[in-house]
Amino acid sequence: MCGIVGYTGKKQCRDILVNSLRKLEYRGYDSAGIAVMEDGHIKTVKAKGKINDGLIVKLSESGELNAVTGIGHTRWATHGEPSDINSHPIGNSRVSIVHNGIIENYRKLKNFLIGKGYKFESETDTEAAAKLIDYYYNGDPVDAISKAVTDIEGAYSLGIIFRDFPDMIYAVRKDSPLIVGIGDGEMYIASDMTALLEYTKKYYLLDTGEIASISAKGAVICDLHGNKINKEVQTATWDVSEAEKGGFEHFMLKEIHEQPAAVRKTISPRIKDGLPCFDECGLTDEMIRGYKHIYIIACGSAMHAGLIGKYIIESLARTPVIVDIASEFRYRNPLLTADDLVVIVSQSGETADTKAALELANEVGADTLALVNVVGSSIAREAKMVMYTYAGPEISVASTKAYMVQSAFMYLLAFRVALARGRITEEECRELVAKLETMPDLIAECLSDLDPYRRSASRLVGADSLLYIGRGLDYALSMEGSLKLKEISYIHSESYAAGELKHGTISLIDDGMPVIAVATQRDLLAKTISNMREVKTRGAYVIAVCPKGVSIDSESADDIIEIPSADDMFMPLVAVVPLQLVAYYASVLRGNDVDKPRNLAKSVTVE
Ligand code: F6R
Repeated sequence: MCGIVGYTGKKQCRDILVNSLRKLEYRGYDSAGIAVMEDGHIKTVKAKGKINDGLIVKLSESGELNAVTGIGHTRWATHGEPSDINSHPIGNSRVSIVHNGIIENYRKLKNFLIGKGYKFESETDTEAAAKLIDYYYNGDPVDAISKAVTDIEGAYSLGIIFRDFPDMIYAVRKDSPLIVGIGDGEMYIASDMTALLEYTKKYYLLDTGEIASISAKGAVICDLHGNKINKEVQTATWDVSEAEKGGFEHFMLKEIHEQPAAVRKTISPRIKDGLPCFDECGLTDEMIRGYKHIYIIACGSAMHAGLIGKYIIESLARTPVIVDIASEFRYRNPLLTADDLVVIVSQSGETADTKAALELANEVGADTLALVNVVGSSIAREAKMVMYTYAGPEISVASTKAYMVQSAFMYLLAFRVALARGRITEEECRELVAKLETMPDLIAECLSDLDPYRRSASRLVGADSLLYIGRGLDYALSMEGSLKLKEISYIHSESYAAGELKHGTISLIDDGMPVIAVATQRDLLAKTISNMREVKTRGAYVIAVCPKGVSIDSESADDIIEIPSADDMFMPLVAVVPLQLVAYYASVLRGNDVDKPRNLAKSVTVE
């Protein structure tokens, strides 16, 4: 949440900052701003709203800027409503900061600073940090930052400029992500690498408790006691084109289309001699045999991918799998032991609750395996074992391709666990892997004609509320379909286990209420169809998602979305595509900002 950027070099920094901020807008878009060094003064331009609606307008009003050093911010509001005054950068004539994260003890710091004569203008926690740095500043920026950081509690990263050091930017990290980009005679800071791909692929990854003093020539990085730290130069593997729309109207649509390739890239390197192979992370069959339980912990869509994992691991390997929402897991004193495997799933690798759950699992002594998309992210680095998904940058706030590759990975894990535990033979395992390898083609087939999804979506746009129903794997998938729809279309929806409807929820069914029935599990089909009839009889407009060849009559469904057929176990990888696209078109038809749904941010680095 919130995106930070900074530049120092020879070029005019305004456009570089704004351009980099645009790439980070998925982290929050309540306001945006920049602060630059101009003629020995800090000049700040900031405004409520998305970059195009606020900051760009203000910048055009404020005339030419002549500055080669500056910092920028795009905000997801935590303390204080979205407003010009609460926008970052925040500071005074001596120091200005941009901040990502939360300063937990800001009230205490604020009272202390008020006692010292400081006046506060905004409602933000950030202002306390800015003024504290100013309070400690005595001509030495690093000293002031170190002292302030020692007092500040929370998880945060800061980008800072000082009037007295007009060619420098400073950066400090405490848990929230921050990188220092390395250019040719110019340097950058950013919350993540997508902001900088256009300018450089080389960067240093700051660790917690590290302060960077950055000039055009390079960066000096030290700990809070001033000890210099030699950092390894990292190289981004993502390409700038991957972080652009490439002719699609929205990132979400582009990312949905990237799914077949993303699945191939994620599973292929993990298949050796036709079998799933986890050598790269050190997960051996002996370890697998020793685990009493497998926990899969994540938030949102990543947790839904974990649910797919639960169904297939339990059914193939007969090993108990507990899937938990990270924010619940961390506070419920889980029955976790050192004999368990904890799989932590996260696209960003920075989600605060997921990271805290990982820390808890590490403390208990369980083996932890991170399944993460962003290389070098906190979760990737803190887990005992890491496997990367190769989805490439996911810019749309609503996750599609990341969910898809997380789910695809669950199959490899299930097959290996089943093999290691002697539940399937090598031959059976090879057959399953071969089937998994055909899935990218079936996913691509779903994308060959988008009209059915648009048509079904047009039935939903006027609805106040709808239900997604399914049984077994279809229920797990319904949860993802429902989340996708509500987060980008703002239509209320709920997912329900089809067999559970009669225990209360069916009373919601009203004339014309849409019900999306996911009916891909053939062994449960007769039961799901009965549930569809029950709601249709009571007035629901039923849209069924089912594999080609399955017959559903007009007494059970009003509209049928047919998808390519695969073995039941693999159907979630196909069936999620129509659910994503129905949500996408519902959002488009309602005129919403598909990639930047209201109130949301992609990387949830606060609890
Ligand atoms: C929904 C969505 C979120 C994320 C969740 C976890 O479309 O994107 O539910 O899945 O915030 O984020 P990561 O995977 O970055 O930990």
